[in-house]
Amino acid sequence: MTLANFTTTQFPIIRPRRLRRHAWLRDMVQEHYVGPKDLVWTVIIREDHVDPTIPGMPGSPRLSIRELVERAQEAEDLGIPAIAFFPHVEQHLKDESASEALNPGSLTIRAIEALKKHCPNLGVISDVALDPFTSHGFDGLMKGDQVDNDSTLELLAKSVLLHVQAGADVIAPSEMMDGRIKVLRETLDGAGYQDVSLLSYSAKYASAFYGPYRGGIGSLGNLGKGDKKTFYVNPANKAEALREVSQDLLEGADMVMVKPGLPYLDVISAIKETFHVPTFAFHVSGEYGCLKLMHEAGFMDFARAFHEVLISFKRAGCDGILTYGALEYARLL
Ligand code: PBG
Repeated sequence: MTLANFTTTQFPIIRPRRLRRHAWLRDMVQEHYVGPKDLVWTVIIREDHVDPTIPGMPGSPRLSIRELVERAQEAEDLGIPAIAFFPHVEQHLKDESASEALNPGSLTIRAIEALKKHCPNLGVISDVALDPFTSHGFDGLMKGDQVDNDSTLELLAKSVLLHVQAGADVIAPSEMMDGRIKVLRETLDGAGYQDVSLLSYSAKYASAFYGPYRGGIGSLGNLGKGDKKTFYVNPANKAEALREVSQDLLEGADMVMVKPGLPYLDVISAIKETFHVPTFAFHVSGEYGCLKLMHEAGFMDFARAFHEVLISFKRAGCDGILTYGALEYARLL
């Protein structure tokens, strides 16, 4: 398409408003759609006795395993293909070496088992990052003031086997260690799990939008003023995100993700146009919370604003969107 295609005929012959005049006509020329099948429902889970409230994200409380399973069934019935959950781990179970991540009876593992037992046809996308389990709130083992890459990889490789033995269908590592896809692929293949796929959080940015999630999993106070700039991508960089994606694909990633979502639509479309691989966006806790709090304050309609955000991901080229609002959205339709 050249500029000439747009400019040979002009107003008053051309009137773009003609196509906006009727609802049926607007529908007929609509370019993109979003529905439940495009969404992965993300949610934070808890032990039964833990407070469900997560500050900053009204509408998406922590769920007990019983609640999770009930709503997961509803999600499946509404056409949502998969779920990705994150555990609130109680403070006394967190330590410097994330040992709870290797507990076969952890909240995470019990939740995967419960989901697979009660809703076997709903996909379970499981994160192996260690931040819910560490007493410092970082995503791996510390060496001085840095997260140590290679010893963290060893721990991820051990914990991933618990996830797949419990029934996880897709493993989605979110901690941005170098080489994690290679190590996870080799570990899975070596243990006979060739068919478990890897969804890499390839371009995970050092973002301010994770705040409510960190409160949700109980790592906010532990992290204190600590940030994750030494392992997540600088928000100013796009070429670097493409390099991360190419590296992950070479290591064996089946699908890739950008996180957060809305501030990085250009990165999503560049990935899709460059690599033509299944590409996901994670509409994170702070993004969801912004919409919810504006709705509660009476300044914006959540349902309309949320639809607009979701369709922007589809327009940018996303195959799917991870979001805390998936179930609410599917209910509204
Ligand atoms: C960390 C992790 C993060 C999220 C999920 N897993 C980011 C972080 O705390 O650094 C964010 C999810 C969200 O904000 O919704 N591995």
